[in-house]
Amino acid sequence: MTTLFTPLQVGDLRLPNRIVMSPLTRARAGTTHIPNDMMVDYYSQRASSGLMMTECTMVDAHACAFIGEGGIYSPAHVAGWKRVTDAVHAKGGRIFLQIWHPGRAAHSLLNEGEQPVSSSAKAIRNDVTHTLEGAKPYEVPRSLRTEEIPRYVEMFRLAAKNAHQAGFDGVQIHGAHGYLIDNFLRDGVNERTDAYGGSVPNRARFLLEVTDAAISVWGAGRVAVRISPLVPFNDMADSQPEALVTHVAQELNRRRIAFLEMRNENHTLPLEQAILAIARRHFQGVLMSNGSYTRESGESTVACGAADAIVYGRPYIANPDLVERFAKQAPLNQVNYDRLYGGGPDGYSDYPTLAAG
Ligand SMILES: Cc1cc2nc3c(=O)[nH]c(=O)nc-3n(C[C@H](O)[C@H](O)[C@H](O)COP(=O)(O)O)c2cc1C
Repeated sequence: MTTLFTPLQVGDLRLPNRIVMSPLTRARAGTTHIPNDMMVDYYSQRASSGLMMTECTMVDAHACAFIGEGGIYSPAHVAGWKRVTDAVHAKGGRIFLQIWHPGRAAHSLLNEGEQPVSSSAKAIRNDVTHTLEGAKPYEVPRSLRTEEIPRYVEMFRLAAKNAHQAGFDGVQIHGAHGYLIDNFLRDGVNERTDAYGGSVPNRARFLLEVTDAAISVWGAGRVAVRISPLVPFNDMADSQPEALVTHVAQELNRRRIAFLEMRNENHTLPLEQAILAIARRHFQGVLMSNGSYTRESGESTVACGAADAIVYGRPYIANPDLVERFAKQAPLNQVNYDRLYGGGPDGYSDYPTLAAG
């Protein structure tokens, strides 16, 4: 029987287990967005996971949505991340960089006055974002002109190239959560009338162009995609998530990417199970599933074959040795929600392992 501890071939990589660390923004990189010693510690502490994804990482100097997130757009960022990947590899781990553009979730106060961009000029409603001048409502973004889109694809290609130089094992394209790629994917936001809007294939075009750009750098066996077709975060919605997932899964399947990750909120909900099953039907490669999993529900999901690996977010915040804890069925540390974003090592790289316990 397949368990969380059954090794798994994922593209070009062999994972020793199926317990994967979710991308988690922790905003410890400061205003330079350059990884530091604290981040080297944090990621290397979690190296026993089958695979780690980094926090979402800026593909461009004007792609900031959170104070202190990591970047991958200059030689200094490459050098900073190289220290992280070296430390993870020294402990026998594997790590993908999550490459990301925030789209309409950015703010001009975080981007030297640049107006956020999106598929359409629709703001995130009824919410605020945090800038160096305090909390501010989201701004109305500028709709990208058709002829500008290749430049944004190129940002992702350069980020993928930088990730390669920084020694990562691959990249995960962030197509979830209402950021730039998702602003194109879902029709609750995308009101375009050009080749990037309207039909499902048109809305998926930007994601697939970015995917092809990343494949041109890495080869398909080192490129992954994360989507969240049902997650409403950042004021997102879609009228036909089933059709969207069918098309995206089929197109990614043709490209033979390393894995597709379905990010849900609570995998026990029937609608979420149905969308995962659609991805399974149309994507024959490795399928990863995320969303409120425990050890037990992760075990039963891989045992029944609904997904090949389980992606854990909050459990990984507080448990650097999640793999060892699951193996021993040991209790988990609880997340300190006051220390999620920014600040120092407390609530970040100081969660105890069982051994230190
Ligand atoms: C503090 C925090 C930061 C997150 N940052 C990211 C991120 O950078 N990129 C991303 O795709 N998802 C991010 N997420 C979502 C998680 O990757 C994951 O999908 C979510 O926590 C659900 O998984 P869980 O139920 O196992 O926690 C974040 C979640 C949390 C709690």
